[in-house]
Amino acid sequence: MYSEKVMDHFNNPRNVGEIENPSGVGTVGNAKCGDIMRMYLDIDDNGIIQDVKFKTFGCGAAVATSSMATELVKGKTVQQALEVTNKAVMEALDGLPPVKVHCSLLAEEAIHAALWDYAEKNHITIEGLEKPVNDISEKEEGEEEEY
Ligand code: FES
Repeated sequence: MYSEKVMDHFNNPRNVGEIENPSGVGTVGNAKCGDIMRMYLDIDDNGIIQDVKFKTFGCGAAVATSSMATELVKGKTVQQALEVTNKAVMEALDGLPPVKVHCSLLAEEAIHAALWDYAEKNHITIEGLEKPVNDISEKEEGEEEEY
């Protein structure tokens, strides 16, 4: 049912964790299943993503897609990171079963939510970036949640 790459990223997820004082952090919820994903970005003065970490309360497909997504955005510019769509992530993983496609949206939206936070903090506009509809970052402000 799952490709070897999906199983690899599920069993050995890359870039799990947190970044202290991130340039941007975003949390999104999956409207379909209620799972949650938080993404941290460390972006340098040139707009290059130096580091990225994620944490999720989500299924195996969410773990695998987020792991792959973090690999794809690391070292990229903010603009290039916007091109890392859930479709691109799924392709990089050699596909996902149709019922799991919605899981891949968590990673894409979490990256967008973190970029949105980065843009707001720096009072800049990132061309083509929209605030994800499932962004729940603000609801959690001030709360320290562990998951
Ligand atoms: Fe919720 Fe996959 S079932 S993210």
